[in-house]
Amino acid sequence: MSRTMSSGNGGNGGAGRNGGRGEGAPGARPTVLLTGASGVVGRSLLREQDGPRFVVATHSTPVPEAGDARSVRLDMTAERFGLEEDAYAALAAEVDVVIHSAGLTEWGLPAGDYRRINVEGTRRVAEFAERADATVHFISTAFVAALADTAPVPLGPDNVCRNYISSKREAEHVLRDSGVPHTVFRPTNLIGDSTTGWTSQGQIVQLMSDWLGRGRAPFLPAHPGIRMDFVSQDLLSRAVLGAVERGDDGGEFWVTYGPEAMDVEDCLRVLVKHAAGRGRTLTPPPVVNADELAADAIANASPRARSYLSVLRDVSEVTRCSGGVLPTSMPELRERYGVPRIDDTAAYLASLEYAADHLG
Ligand SMILES: NC(=O)c1ccc[n+]([C@@H]2O[C@H](COP(=O)([O-])OP(=O)(O)OC[C@H]3O[C@@H](n4cnc5c(N)ncnc54)[C@H](OP(=O)(O)O)[C@@H]3O)[C@@H](O)[C@H]2O)c1
Repeated sequence: MSRTMSSGNGGNGGAGRNGGRGEGAPGARPTVLLTGASGVVGRSLLREQDGPRFVVATHSTPVPEAGDARSVRLDMTAERFGLEEDAYAALAAEVDVVIHSAGLTEWGLPAGDYRRINVEGTRRVAEFAERADATVHFISTAFVAALADTAPVPLGPDNVCRNYISSKREAEHVLRDSGVPHTVFRPTNLIGDSTTGWTSQGQIVQLMSDWLGRGRAPFLPAHPGIRMDFVSQDLLSRAVLGAVERGDDGGEFWVTYGPEAMDVEDCLRVLVKHAAGRGRTLTPPPVVNADELAADAIANASPRARSYLSVLRDVSEVTRCSGGVLPTSMPELRERYGVPRIDDTAAYLASLEYAADHLG
């Protein structure tokens, strides 16, 4: 669709188009192509009330929240997303805004796997946005802070998140270099809905928390002073849809709590409370400085503990390389997009309750 007005890419929060609300006549609802609609973020976005008109991009999984929205099957790894030229052109004519949430999110895979989907897929989104004259809202990750030039210590070459983070950082650069108007949202680890704990799929936080909360961890590897920064998925959705609503076309937003986030002891207190609510007495595992772990401390653990402990250590390292406390735009997200103040300990507890009741 043709752009009628465009602001520059502000350092934080581009001023927006058409006085807010996207393309076309003032007050018109923009048409938003949502990639990754079946994912945790996509399904959370589709649950928000009074959202824009969505075109739901499916891939291999159905999207229960799609309702009456038009669906289109897109493959990020194929030219023109795998569409015939006519269908691609028609989609470009229809769409005002892209929320680009599709991605390969599992950790520990080879760099090439991420490149095909996260980097080349984002390049295709930029090409599409150019054709559609559309703004892109890109869901990146707060973990890119660990690879910043300003990182206090370098991230280890074998860190399980490294290839994933590199691909997300490169995808950000692809968008930046494309010249397409865009925002970047960088969420930290997501948990369920802030009130109900609902999530369409279990997240790494719930998985690890369940294991810790059952007293199965011999110890908890963590770098001194790090924050346990978890954000509710509806908070991210509110922020992204706020940017769509305002017609923003620039800005980078860290969707994190930063210094407001729980520390390790807060996190363990929530786990103890959750266990007590389930009739269990949890003795929290000892917290061990991840930099001072004995060489064989993880290697000698049982197979499951080995894998969980090394993920916990690597995620802690990501936070440590981000300065221990993740950068945050939370004050701006509250001010600019009306993101509610959510107590992260209460939201974390709600997520644990939901996971225990529904995720098995
Ligand atoms: N969840 C988190 O904690 C978190 C935290 C920080 C950042 N993020 C970022 O947020 C974004 C969304 O994350 P998420 O948790 O919603 O991920 P997710 O649950 O793993 O979902 C990934 C989505 O990408 C789609 N997809 C994968 N390969 C595709 C392809 N070749 N073509 C088209 N679509 C494809 C999947 O579709 P199918 O299932 O149909 O294949 C799915 O809808 C990601 O880019 C991630 O980097 C997530």
